[in-house]
Amino acid sequence: MSIILEPLSTPLRGAIRLPGDKSISHRAALLGPLASGPCVARGWLDAQDTRRSLDAVRALGADAVFADGDLRIAPGGFPGARGSQSPAADMPALEIDCGNSGTTARLLIGLLAGREARVRLDGDASLRRRPMGRVLRPLRRLGARTITLKRAGRLPLEIEGRPLRGGSCRLAVPSAQAKSALLLAGLASAEPVLIEGCGSSRDHTERLLRLMGATVESAGDGGGRVALLATGPLRPFDVTVPGDPSSAAFALVAAAMIPGSEVVARGMLLNPTRIGFLRVMERMGADITVAPSGDGWEPVGDVTVRHAPLRGYRIAADEVPGLIDELPILAVLAAAAEGVSVVSGAAELRSKESDRIAAIVSSLRAFGIPAIEAPDGFTITGPVRPGQGRRRLRLATGGDHRIAMALAVAALGAGCETELDDTDCVAVSFPGFFDIWRDLREGNGS
Ligand code: S3P
Repeated sequence: MSIILEPLSTPLRGAIRLPGDKSISHRAALLGPLASGPCVARGWLDAQDTRRSLDAVRALGADAVFADGDLRIAPGGFPGARGSQSPAADMPALEIDCGNSGTTARLLIGLLAGREARVRLDGDASLRRRPMGRVLRPLRRLGARTITLKRAGRLPLEIEGRPLRGGSCRLAVPSAQAKSALLLAGLASAEPVLIEGCGSSRDHTERLLRLMGATVESAGDGGGRVALLATGPLRPFDVTVPGDPSSAAFALVAAAMIPGSEVVARGMLLNPTRIGFLRVMERMGADITVAPSGDGWEPVGDVTVRHAPLRGYRIAADEVPGLIDELPILAVLAAAAEGVSVVSGAAELRSKESDRIAAIVSSLRAFGIPAIEAPDGFTITGPVRPGQGRRRLRLATGGDHRIAMALAVAALGAGCETELDDTDCVAVSFPGFFDIWRDLREGNGS
């Protein structure tokens, strides 16, 4: 569905209740079926992406039900670790469609590599373009067998569960999805699994596994090395899923950008591997207050952002894993800041749901903002009001949820009307995205 957005005429004021964190919700759905007792994930994100993981574990035999905001998973029914050397090739292949979800696809490859299963994974056109080699290559070192069916290193592919040796491997990119896939494979491996090259990627799999009783050690600069050392039977969990900072970022950036605004994101995940965007906003001069509200299995709190004058930023490779999903919205914020903003070491952004470097730079240029593409990032010079002097712009989202939401925020602060061609994709991670603005405009957010 296309949508026409009018520029805001009033500041944004109020609090937003956030959807549950997407990364944690995927992990709860994928790990719950392995526990020795019933698991609960309260405030689980019900969105297109996470539904792919839920549907997948159900197809594999798990008894998992989402109702009244909570995901409940009963023990048993899931394929066990493959004990014998007999190949899984004689089993009928189960087909699983991962849709648009890279997290579902990559984590499932690892989860199933050592289990009594033969599974064919496929996805939509965007997911079929995304690289799987970063998971397949290290998994092969642990003894896994996967067969790509059309293009090497891409979906569709088949996983033939085998007994895994375990051992050590190094990631080609510091990806949380690749790291998690290997940790999940380690749950069915004979020996410990050591993963190097993880950088400062998000650590939710490690946290959830520890909560379930596994021994997971992290070491090196920014957690660059992770080892799964021991797993007995995994204990059940009962957790609350914190609010997703990657979804909060859209409203918090809008508040920083639009004069007179003040927005509070309640119950937001404050995990240090996820709030790199707040650190960048602080460097820009943004007015941010963080009120931690507890020290549970994941840190959580309320984050308030008020409008303030901003200056440009520099983001280099070491900071990228901690804000990779926020780079499109930080690009929009750069246009509102005084001076030059530069992102480098972020070529990974080209392998997301779309080529996000090309997508955001071309859209900002259409808005009249000086933006230049680099192979591994972008340069943006501000301050320039998007669409100033134009009457109406029509922009393409490329069906990418984070690009659609970033462009919607740019449109709120624009000097013209903006039509976005396809906005249904926001349901991938933030189904209520377009509703929050009505409340914030009227100053009565939840
Ligand atoms: C995710 C990890 C990130 C992120 C993605 C979700 C995860 O990708 O971009 O949206 O849940 O593990 P990487 O695998 O590049 O870290």
